[in-house]
Amino acid sequence: MDVLILGGTRHARALAQRMVDDGVDAVTSLAGVTSSRRPLPGATRVGGFGGVDGLVDFLRENQVKALVNATHPFAGSMTTHAASAAAHLGLPLLRLQAPSWRTLPESGEWTWVADHDEAARAAAAVPGTVLLTVGRQPVPHYLPPLADRTVIARCIDAPDGPLPPRWTVLRDKGPFTLESEKPF
Ligand SMILES: NC(=O)c1ccc[n+]([C@@H]2O[C@H](COP(=O)([O-])OP(=O)(O)OC[C@H]3O[C@@H](n4cnc5c(N)ncnc54)[C@H](OP(=O)(O)O)[C@@H]3O)[C@@H](O)[C@H]2O)c1
Repeated sequence: MDVLILGGTRHARALAQRMVDDGVDAVTSLAGVTSSRRPLPGATRVGGFGGVDGLVDFLRENQVKALVNATHPFAGSMTTHAASAAAHLGLPLLRLQAPSWRTLPESGEWTWVADHDEAARAAAAVPGTVLLTVGRQPVPHYLPPLADRTVIARCIDAPDGPLPPRWTVLRDKGPFTLESEKPF
């Protein structure tokens, strides 16, 4: 294999298509955390590698020549592992990432937070229905501060465990449009 793409984003999908079009021997890797996956262009593999050591073994065994980290900006562990494994093996590593929303003109009016706990507290301080779009896994961070609030949790897969009575799960998958979000 010439190129391993660490995927899970639309940028990774677009890159995989380019690789297919250009005849590059590339494989896209997915974490396998969501159940409803659209087929990707080209070859894929699914599931964690088992940390940095597992990724190093995979890259070595498959004689990968270059690694592309096209994971989501919030996928911090995979990004760290990719950097460590590439450095260990002396492999070229490309980071493919969408531009930050901070570059948008209206971003100055937004509340910026450091993590999910801070986001949950900030959302709890504002009245009205909360549209929660962080995905399934971080939902536990939002349960205590928003337990008594009306919350629409939009996720690809339903969160684990019981949710407070005023919470509704909306199972849906992006990309989403402004028009589709206005009713919330
Ligand atoms: N976090 C988000 O908001 C978000 C949004 C959209 C898409 N995604 C995509 O969802 C996936 C998981 O996100 P996350 O936030 O759970 O990431 P993470 O915290 O960085 O990853 C957790 C673990 O999942 C495995 N993993 C993650 N991405 C992988 C990939 N592309 N191929 C194989 N294994 C992978 C790795 O397991 P091992 O240590 O066992 O190798 C990693 O240590 C990523 O691929 C990301 O691009 C995430």
